[in-house]
Amino acid sequence: MGKSSERREHRGAVQATVAAEPAISGLIPLYRPYLGGREKEYVNQCIDSTWISSRGTFVERFERAFAQQIDAPYATTVCNGTVALHLALEALGLEPGDEVIVPTLTYVASANAVVHAGAKPVFVDSLESTWQMDPADVRRKIGPRTKAIMVVHLYGHPCPMDELLGLCAEFGLRMIEDCAEAFGTLYKGTHVGNFGDFATFSFFGNKTITTGEGGMVVSRNRELIDAAYHLKTQAVSPDREYWHDVVGYNYRMTNICAAIGLAQLENASAVLKKKRQIAAWYREGLHGLPLRMLDEEPETTNSFWMCSLVVDDACHRQPLRDWLMAANIETRPLFYPCHTLPHFKTDETLPVAESLSIRGINVPSFPALTQENVISVCGAVKSYFKSLPQ
Ligand SMILES: Cc1ncc(COP(=O)(O)O)c(C=O)c1O
Repeated sequence: MGKSSERREHRGAVQATVAAEPAISGLIPLYRPYLGGREKEYVNQCIDSTWISSRGTFVERFERAFAQQIDAPYATTVCNGTVALHLALEALGLEPGDEVIVPTLTYVASANAVVHAGAKPVFVDSLESTWQMDPADVRRKIGPRTKAIMVVHLYGHPCPMDELLGLCAEFGLRMIEDCAEAFGTLYKGTHVGNFGDFATFSFFGNKTITTGEGGMVVSRNRELIDAAYHLKTQAVSPDREYWHDVVGYNYRMTNICAAIGLAQLENASAVLKKKRQIAAWYREGLHGLPLRMLDEEPETTNSFWMCSLVVDDACHRQPLRDWLMAANIETRPLFYPCHTLPHFKTDETLPVAESLSIRGINVPSFPALTQENVISVCGAVKSYFKSLPQ
């Protein structure tokens, strides 16, 4: 049950619009999952049927529907996006001393997973234009121990895949795509996750589709997805009970989570459409201010997981966040670059990522945001800059 699934025709009933929800005590939160579909109904089916663990029909249904949605051949569910990365790296057979190139500007899980797999993350700088990993710095960091590049499509924007795939081909490297933040993101018309040896997704509560906690491992390669499936299920033999041939894991997703995921997928197109609308409202509302929004490069589709901006001058980042909080608007800073965190600390400077990190803010981006909400956020940002002495 729940084995890697092949693509099949399946489309759930797509809801046309995302309904607005009442604000929580006046606060405009950074994120709130949209649960306006059949989530409750499907979860109740799990409870009524008693199939609440990782056996149950929703697991396989969710895997099939997900693979179909992103046009990938094989997908297998896991219990979060971090273990998805760990599983993918282990299934690639990394060995101690192997190096994996990782963007420094990412959520810490990307780099931690490399350590979990026994390898060493080597950090690279970002592009100022798109905030994604810089292929020129990747080239500089490739060495004799480099085994793979972990591409992270950050905040919903795709990485420059032509250049990165070119480097993998030139140096014989594996590629893992961390698509945790990139459900709905396209590069030259292809959904991200279809370029590397493996791709991983996260379904944490603030992701474009959620299962509460959850993740997916995707591959175009049958042998690789089978290896990942084997490891995620305690490396149990498919035809000999309680026979395990290597150290495996229990990284399985529950039927309840998969039930939520399937319901989420049925509304995914409407949610993605609404996120583009929200980004357009922000683009219009923030125009002309001393800041820049992470937008969309030609030939890419940004899924706008989190609408994000960098202020021109870093000295305004925290005061602006405080100003917004005082106006009941929740925001989030960009990630600290991993190479500055205590457990990864190096002496090197990765100037673009460091500068983006100290200037960056994620603004409210949840699917049920209304135009009035976005106008309020943009109005508060404007009033902050107006309040400054001229
Ligand atoms: C880029 C990135 N990678 C990995 C993860 C890990 O996913 P999870 O929180 O589901 O373990 C996240 C989660 O937020 C993420 O943003």
